[in-house]
Amino acid sequence: MIPYGHHSINDDDIAAVVSALKSDRLTTGPLVEKFELALEKVAGAPCIAVSSGTAALHCAYAAIGLGPGDEVITPPITFVATQATAALFGATIVFADVQSDTANIDPQAVEAAITSRTKAIVAVDYAGHPADLDELRSIADKYGIYLIEDAAHSIGSSYKGRPVGSIADITTFSFFPTKNLTTGEGGAVASIHPELLEKAKRFSRQGLVRNPVEFRIKDQGLWHQEVHEFGLNYRLPDVLCALGISQLNHLNEFKDKRNTIFETYKRHLQDLIEVQLPSQRSFTSVNWHLFPIRVNSIKRNFLFNNLRAAGIGVQVNYIPAYWHPVFQNLGYKKGQYPVSDSFFASEISLPMSFALSEEQMHKVVKVAKSI
Ligand SMILES: Cc1ncc(COP(=O)(O)O)c(C=O)c1O
Repeated sequence: MIPYGHHSINDDDIAAVVSALKSDRLTTGPLVEKFELALEKVAGAPCIAVSSGTAALHCAYAAIGLGPGDEVITPPITFVATQATAALFGATIVFADVQSDTANIDPQAVEAAITSRTKAIVAVDYAGHPADLDELRSIADKYGIYLIEDAAHSIGSSYKGRPVGSIADITTFSFFPTKNLTTGEGGAVASIHPELLEKAKRFSRQGLVRNPVEFRIKDQGLWHQEVHEFGLNYRLPDVLCALGISQLNHLNEFKDKRNTIFETYKRHLQDLIEVQLPSQRSFTSVNWHLFPIRVNSIKRNFLFNNLRAAGIGVQVNYIPAYWHPVFQNLGYKKGQYPVSDSFFASEISLPMSFALSEEQMHKVVKVAKSI
Protein backbone atom coordinates (compact mmCIF):
# COMPACT_ATOMS: atom_id res chain seq x y z
CA MET A 1 0.00 0.00 0.00
CA ILE A 2 1.37 3.44 -0.92
CA PRO A 3 0.69 5.33 2.35
CA TYR A 4 -1.29 8.57 2.20
CA GLY A 5 1.23 10.14 4.58
CA HIS A 6 4.61 8.98 5.85
CA HIS A 7 7.48 10.31 7.91
CA SER A 8 10.93 10.80 6.48
CA ILE A 9 13.89 10.08 8.77
CA ASN A 10 17.49 10.33 7.57
CA ASP A 11 20.89 9.50 9.09
CA ASP A 12 21.28 13.03 10.54
CA ASP A 13 17.99 12.59 12.42
CA ILE A 14 19.11 9.23 13.79
CA ALA A 15 22.51 10.61 14.86
CA ALA A 16 20.80 13.53 16.61
CA VAL A 17 18.50 11.21 18.57
CA VAL A 18 21.35 8.84 19.50
CA SER A 19 23.40 11.75 20.76
CA ALA A 20 20.46 12.95 22.89
CA LEU A 21 20.04 9.43 24.28
CA LYS A 22 23.71 9.42 25.31
CA SER A 23 23.47 12.82 27.00
CA ASP A 24 22.75 13.56 30.67
CA ARG A 25 19.24 14.78 30.04
CA LEU A 26 16.50 12.78 28.36
CA THR A 27 13.91 15.44 29.20
CA THR A 28 13.76 19.06 30.57
CA GLY A 29 17.30 19.57 29.23
CA PRO A 30 18.93 22.09 26.88
CA LEU A 31 17.54 20.68 23.62
CA VAL A 32 14.03 21.83 24.49
CA GLU A 33 14.98 25.51 24.31
CA LYS A 34 17.17 24.86 21.28
CA PHE A 35 14.20 23.33 19.47
CA GLU A 36 11.94 26.19 20.58
CA LEU A 37 14.40 28.78 19.21
CA ALA A 38 14.69 26.89 15.93
CA LEU A 39 10.89 26.76 15.68
CA GLU A 40 10.68 30.51 16.30
CA LYS A 41 12.78 31.12 13.17
CA VAL A 42 10.19 29.25 11.08
CA ALA A 43 7.03 30.45 12.85
CA GLY A 44 8.08 34.11 13.17
CA ALA A 45 7.03 34.20 16.84
CA PRO A 46 8.32 32.66 20.09
CA CYS A 47 7.30 29.03 20.59
CA ILE A 48 7.07 26.34 23.26
CA ALA A 49 7.43 22.65 22.45
CA VAL A 50 4.73 20.30 23.73
CA SER A 51 3.88 16.62 23.43
CA SER A 52 1.27 16.73 20.60
CA GLY A 53 -0.86 19.01 18.46
CA THR A 54 -3.75 18.16 20.77
CA ALA A 55 -1.69 19.27 23.79
CA ALA A 56 -0.81 22.48 21.92
CA LEU A 57 -4.51 23.27 21.41
CA HIS A 58 -5.27 22.48 25.06
CA CYS A 59 -2.48 24.87 26.12
CA ALA A 60 -3.77 27.59 23.74
CA TYR A 61 -7.24 27.40 25.28
CA ALA A 62 -5.73 27.41 28.80
CA ALA A 63 -3.73 30.53 27.89
CA ILE A 64 -6.83 32.52 26.93
CA GLY A 65 -8.57 31.36 30.13
CA LEU A 66 -11.33 29.49 28.31
CA GLY A 67 -14.11 28.32 30.61
CA PRO A 68 -17.78 27.41 30.96
CA GLY A 69 -20.08 29.90 29.23
CA ASP A 70 -17.45 30.88 26.65
CA GLU A 71 -18.05 30.10 22.99
CA VAL A 72 -15.40 29.23 20.41
CA ILE A 73 -16.13 29.33 16.69
CA THR A 74 -14.57 26.44 14.77
CA PRO A 75 -14.83 24.85 11.30
CA PRO A 76 -16.44 21.39 10.84
CA ILE A 77 -13.70 20.27 8.41
CA THR A 78 -10.94 19.42 10.87
CA PHE A 79 -9.74 16.68 13.17
CA VAL A 80 -11.94 16.78 16.27
CA ALA A 81 -9.00 17.70 18.56
CA THR A 82 -9.67 21.32 17.51
CA GLN A 83 -12.98 21.13 19.39
CA ALA A 84 -12.33 18.44 22.03
CA THR A 85 -9.67 20.43 23.84
CA ALA A 86 -11.97 23.47 24.11
CA ALA A 87 -14.97 21.37 25.16
CA LEU A 88 -12.89 19.89 28.01
CA PHE A 89 -12.70 23.41 29.51
CA GLY A 90 -16.51 23.53 29.52
CA ALA A 91 -16.68 25.91 26.55
CA THR A 92 -19.53 25.76 24.04
CA ILE A 93 -18.43 24.71 20.56
CA VAL A 94 -19.96 26.80 17.80
CA PHE A 95 -19.49 25.80 14.16
CA ALA A 96 -19.12 28.13 11.19
CA ASP A 97 -19.22 26.58 7.74
CA VAL A 98 -16.18 26.41 5.44
CA GLN A 99 -15.46 27.88 2.01
CA SER A 100 -16.02 25.41 -0.80
CA ASP A 101 -12.65 26.02 -2.50
CA THR A 102 -10.15 25.81 0.39
CA ALA A 103 -12.33 24.08 3.04
CA ASN A 104 -11.09 26.74 5.46
CA ILE A 105 -13.47 28.53 7.81
CA ASP A 106 -15.59 31.16 6.02
CA PRO A 107 -15.09 34.64 7.57
CA GLN A 108 -18.69 35.60 6.71
CA ALA A 109 -20.04 32.55 8.53
CA VAL A 110 -17.74 33.39 11.45
CA GLU A 111 -19.09 36.92 11.77
CA ALA A 112 -22.67 35.61 11.64
CA ALA A 113 -21.90 33.22 14.52
CA ILE A 114 -20.47 35.84 16.91
CA THR A 115 -22.36 36.46 20.16
CA SER A 116 -21.53 38.34 23.35
CA ARG A 117 -20.09 35.05 24.69
CA THR A 118 -17.66 34.41 21.84
CA LYS A 119 -14.13 34.20 23.21
CA ALA A 120 -12.17 33.00 20.19
CA ILE A 121 -12.25 32.23 16.51
CA VAL A 122 -10.32 29.07 15.73
CA ALA A 123 -9.14 28.75 12.12
CA VAL A 124 -7.70 25.51 10.75
CA ASP A 125 -5.23 25.68 7.84
CA TYR A 126 -6.76 22.74 6.00
CA ALA A 127 -4.27 20.74 3.88
CA GLY A 128 -1.56 23.30 4.76
CA HIS A 129 -3.29 26.23 3.04
CA PRO A 130 -3.55 29.23 5.41
CA ALA A 131 -7.07 30.36 6.30
CA ASP A 132 -8.21 33.89 5.34
CA LEU A 133 -6.19 35.35 8.20
CA ASP A 134 -6.57 39.08 7.41
CA GLU A 135 -10.37 38.84 7.30
CA LEU A 136 -10.44 36.72 10.47
CA ARG A 137 -7.99 39.07 12.20
CA SER A 138 -10.22 42.08 11.51
CA ILE A 139 -13.32 40.27 12.80
CA ALA A 140 -11.40 39.25 15.96
CA ASP A 141 -10.22 42.84 16.47
CA LYS A 142 -13.68 44.29 15.78
CA TYR A 143 -15.25 42.15 18.53
CA GLY A 144 -12.25 42.09 20.89
CA ILE A 145 -11.85 38.32 20.78
CA TYR A 146 -8.90 36.00 20.18
CA LEU A 147 -7.81 34.49 16.88
CA ILE A 148 -6.34 31.01 17.29
CA GLU A 149 -4.86 29.18 14.31
CA ASP A 150 -4.75 25.38 14.34
CA ALA A 151 -1.75 25.01 12.05
CA ALA A 152 -1.36 21.26 12.56
CA HIS A 153 -1.09 20.97 8.74
CA SER A 154 0.78 24.13 7.86
CA ILE A 155 4.18 24.59 9.47
CA GLY A 156 6.35 26.26 6.83
CA SER A 157 3.42 27.87 4.97
CA SER A 158 3.07 31.63 4.72
CA TYR A 159 0.35 34.19 4.12
CA LYS A 160 1.08 37.47 2.30
CA GLY A 161 4.77 36.97 3.02
CA ARG A 162 4.25 36.35 6.74
CA PRO A 163 4.95 32.90 8.20
CA VAL A 164 2.14 30.86 9.75
CA GLY A 165 2.70 31.41 13.47
CA SER A 166 3.23 35.17 13.29
CA ILE A 167 -0.34 36.30 12.55
CA ALA A 168 -2.90 34.75 14.94
CA ASP A 169 -2.80 35.51 18.66
CA ILE A 170 -1.86 31.88 19.22
CA THR A 171 -0.88 29.26 16.63
CA THR A 172 -0.59 25.53 17.29
CA PHE A 173 1.44 22.92 15.39
CA SER A 174 1.48 19.10 15.28
CA PHE A 175 4.51 16.92 14.60
CA PHE A 176 2.68 13.60 14.16
CA PRO A 177 4.50 11.35 11.62
CA THR A 178 2.19 12.15 8.69
CA LYS A 179 2.66 15.91 9.20
CA ASN A 180 5.11 18.18 7.37
CA LEU A 181 7.82 17.43 9.93
CA THR A 182 7.82 14.96 12.78
CA THR A 183 9.03 14.26 16.31
CA GLY A 184 7.06 10.97 16.52
CA GLU A 185 4.44 12.61 18.71
CA GLY A 186 4.85 16.30 19.36
CA GLY A 187 3.57 19.78 18.84
CA ALA A 188 4.23 23.44 19.56
CA VAL A 189 2.46 26.63 20.56
CA ALA A 190 3.54 29.95 19.01
CA SER A 191 2.31 33.32 20.18
CA ILE A 192 2.89 36.94 19.28
CA HIS A 193 1.92 37.82 22.89
CA PRO A 194 4.60 36.89 25.50
CA GLU A 195 2.06 36.73 28.35
CA LEU A 196 -0.15 34.23 26.47
CA LEU A 197 2.86 32.07 25.65
CA GLU A 198 3.92 32.15 29.31
CA LYS A 199 0.45 30.97 30.37
CA ALA A 200 0.52 28.19 27.77
CA LYS A 201 3.97 27.18 28.99
CA ARG A 202 2.94 27.08 32.65
CA PHE A 203 -0.12 24.95 31.79
CA SER A 204 2.10 22.52 29.86
CA ARG A 205 4.51 22.23 32.83
CA GLN A 206 2.08 21.20 35.60
CA GLY A 207 1.19 24.82 36.43
CA LEU A 208 4.41 25.11 38.44
CA VAL A 209 5.53 28.58 39.52
CA ARG A 210 9.27 28.73 40.10
CA ASN A 211 9.93 32.48 40.12
CA PRO A 212 10.35 33.62 43.80
CA VAL A 213 8.88 37.04 42.95
CA GLU A 214 5.54 35.34 42.34
CA PHE A 215 5.56 33.09 45.42
CA ARG A 216 2.58 33.45 47.76
CA ILE A 217 4.12 31.25 50.45
CA LYS A 218 7.18 33.14 51.70
CA ASP A 219 10.32 32.14 53.63
CA GLN A 220 10.77 28.71 52.11
CA GLY A 221 14.01 27.09 50.97
CA LEU A 222 15.48 26.54 47.51
CA TRP A 223 13.22 23.50 47.03
CA HIS A 224 10.14 25.67 46.94
CA GLN A 225 7.69 25.80 44.05
CA GLU A 226 3.97 26.53 43.91
CA VAL A 227 0.89 25.83 41.82
CA HIS A 228 -1.53 28.74 41.41
CA GLU A 229 -3.61 27.17 38.63
CA PHE A 230 -3.77 23.51 37.63
CA GLY A 231 -1.71 22.38 34.68
CA LEU A 232 -0.72 19.12 33.01
CA ASN A 233 2.48 17.47 31.88
CA TYR A 234 2.71 18.19 28.15
CA ARG A 235 6.52 18.41 27.99
CA LEU A 236 8.33 17.23 24.89
CA PRO A 237 11.46 15.30 25.95
CA ASP A 238 14.95 16.25 24.75
CA VAL A 239 15.19 13.02 22.77
CA LEU A 240 12.25 14.14 20.59
CA CYS A 241 13.41 17.77 20.51
CA ALA A 242 16.69 16.46 19.04
CA LEU A 243 14.67 14.86 16.24
CA GLY A 244 12.69 18.07 15.78
CA ILE A 245 15.83 20.24 15.50
CA SER A 246 17.23 17.90 12.87
CA GLN A 247 13.91 17.70 10.98
CA LEU A 248 13.67 21.50 10.89
CA ASN A 249 16.96 21.54 8.95
CA HIS A 250 15.08 19.73 6.14
CA LEU A 251 11.86 21.73 6.24
CA ASN A 252 12.58 23.61 2.99
CA GLU A 253 13.46 20.37 1.24
CA PHE A 254 10.24 18.79 2.57
CA LYS A 255 8.25 21.76 1.30
CA ASP A 256 9.86 21.66 -2.16
CA LYS A 257 9.09 17.97 -2.53
CA ARG A 258 5.49 18.44 -1.41
CA ASN A 259 5.13 21.22 -3.95
CA THR A 260 6.58 19.00 -6.68
CA ILE A 261 4.02 16.30 -5.83
CA PHE A 262 1.28 18.94 -5.82
CA GLU A 263 2.29 20.23 -9.26
CA THR A 264 2.71 16.72 -10.68
CA TYR A 265 -0.73 15.59 -9.53
CA LYS A 266 -2.26 18.82 -10.81
CA ARG A 267 -0.61 18.56 -14.22
CA HIS A 268 -1.67 14.95 -14.74
CA LEU A 269 -5.20 15.18 -13.34
CA GLN A 270 -6.30 18.56 -14.67
CA ASP A 271 -7.80 17.14 -17.85
CA LEU A 272 -10.19 14.89 -15.91
CA ILE A 273 -13.31 17.02 -16.02
CA GLU A 274 -14.96 15.11 -13.19
CA VAL A 275 -12.14 15.85 -10.77
CA GLN A 276 -11.93 19.13 -8.89
CA LEU A 277 -8.36 19.93 -7.87
CA PRO A 278 -7.27 21.91 -4.79
CA SER A 279 -7.02 25.65 -5.29
CA GLN A 280 -4.54 28.11 -3.85
CA ARG A 281 -4.82 31.81 -3.06
CA SER A 282 -2.18 33.78 -5.00
CA PHE A 283 -0.77 35.42 -1.87
CA THR A 284 0.00 32.16 -0.05
CA SER A 285 3.04 29.93 -0.07
CA VAL A 286 1.86 26.49 0.96
CA ASN A 287 3.68 23.58 2.55
CA TRP A 288 1.10 21.07 1.30
CA HIS A 289 0.14 18.48 3.90
CA LEU A 290 -2.67 16.90 1.85
CA PHE A 291 -3.66 16.73 -1.80
CA PRO A 292 -7.47 16.80 -1.55
CA ILE A 293 -9.34 16.07 -4.79
CA ARG A 294 -13.10 16.17 -5.11
CA VAL A 295 -15.39 14.09 -7.29
CA ASN A 296 -19.15 13.79 -7.58
CA SER A 297 -20.27 12.37 -4.25
CA ILE A 298 -21.98 9.37 -5.90
CA LYS A 299 -18.64 8.36 -7.43
CA ARG A 300 -16.47 9.17 -4.41
CA ASN A 301 -16.85 5.86 -2.62
CA PHE A 302 -16.38 3.92 -5.86
CA LEU A 303 -13.15 5.78 -6.60
CA PHE A 304 -11.96 5.51 -2.98
CA ASN A 305 -12.59 1.76 -2.74
CA ASN A 306 -10.95 1.06 -6.08
CA LEU A 307 -7.90 3.16 -5.25
CA ARG A 308 -7.51 1.28 -1.94
CA ALA A 309 -7.98 -2.05 -3.74
CA ALA A 310 -5.17 -1.05 -6.13
CA GLY A 311 -2.82 -0.38 -3.21
CA ILE A 312 -3.17 3.41 -3.11
CA GLY A 313 -3.52 4.51 0.53
CA VAL A 314 -6.09 7.25 0.08
CA GLN A 315 -7.89 8.87 2.98
CA VAL A 316 -10.92 11.12 3.55
CA ASN A 317 -10.20 14.31 5.50
CA TYR A 318 -12.49 14.83 7.36
CA ILE A 319 -15.83 13.59 8.57
CA PRO A 320 -17.41 16.93 9.66
CA ALA A 321 -16.59 17.27 13.37
CA TYR A 322 -20.21 17.94 14.29
CA TRP A 323 -21.24 14.51 12.91
CA HIS A 324 -19.40 12.77 15.73
CA PRO A 325 -21.89 11.25 18.17
CA VAL A 326 -20.43 13.41 20.93
CA PHE A 327 -21.87 16.45 19.09
CA GLN A 328 -25.02 14.68 17.87
CA ASN A 329 -25.74 14.00 21.58
CA LEU A 330 -25.69 17.77 22.07
CA GLY A 331 -28.32 18.26 19.37
CA TYR A 332 -26.26 19.01 16.25
CA LYS A 333 -27.94 17.62 13.12
CA LYS A 334 -26.32 16.46 9.89
CA GLY A 335 -27.04 18.99 7.15
CA GLN A 336 -26.55 22.03 9.40
CA TYR A 337 -23.29 23.00 7.63
CA PRO A 338 -23.98 22.13 3.98
CA VAL A 339 -20.68 23.30 2.47
CA SER A 340 -18.74 21.14 4.92
CA ASP A 341 -21.07 18.20 4.29
CA SER A 342 -20.69 18.38 0.53
CA PHE A 343 -16.91 18.82 0.82
CA PHE A 344 -16.74 15.70 2.99
CA ALA A 345 -19.00 13.72 0.66
CA SER A 346 -16.81 14.39 -2.36
CA GLU A 347 -13.27 14.49 -0.91
CA ILE A 348 -10.38 12.04 -1.28
CA SER A 349 -6.81 12.77 -0.13
CA LEU A 350 -4.18 11.29 -2.44
CA PRO A 351 -0.83 10.11 -1.03
CA MET A 352 1.41 13.06 -0.16
CA SER A 353 4.72 12.78 1.67
CA PHE A 354 8.41 13.54 1.25
CA ALA A 355 8.97 9.78 1.08
CA LEU A 356 6.72 9.36 -1.99
CA SER A 357 8.86 8.26 -4.96
CA GLU A 358 8.47 9.45 -8.54
CA GLU A 359 7.36 5.95 -9.47
CA GLN A 360 4.70 5.88 -6.72
CA MET A 361 3.45 9.33 -7.76
CA HIS A 362 2.97 8.18 -11.33
CA LYS A 363 1.28 4.98 -10.19
CA VAL A 364 -1.24 7.06 -8.20
CA VAL A 365 -1.98 9.20 -11.28
CA LYS A 366 -2.21 6.22 -13.62
CA VAL A 367 -4.53 4.20 -11.36
CA ALA A 368 -6.73 7.21 -10.54
CA LYS A 369 -7.09 8.02 -14.24
CA SER A 370 -7.90 4.45 -15.20
CA ILE A 371 -10.65 4.22 -12.54
C1 LIG B 1 -6.25 19.92 12.17
C2 LIG B 1 -5.64 19.11 13.29
N1 LIG B 1 -5.66 19.62 14.53
C3 LIG B 1 -5.10 18.95 15.56
C4 LIG B 1 -4.53 17.71 15.38
C5 LIG B 1 -3.97 16.98 16.56
O1 LIG B 1 -2.60 16.77 16.47
P1 LIG B 1 -1.90 15.52 17.21
O2 LIG B 1 -2.25 14.29 16.47
O3 LIG B 1 -0.44 15.85 17.13
O4 LIG B 1 -2.39 15.52 18.62
C6 LIG B 1 -4.48 17.15 14.12
C7 LIG B 1 -3.85 15.84 13.90
O5 LIG B 1 -4.30 14.97 13.25
C8 LIG B 1 -5.06 17.86 13.03
O6 LIG B 1 -5.06 17.35 11.79
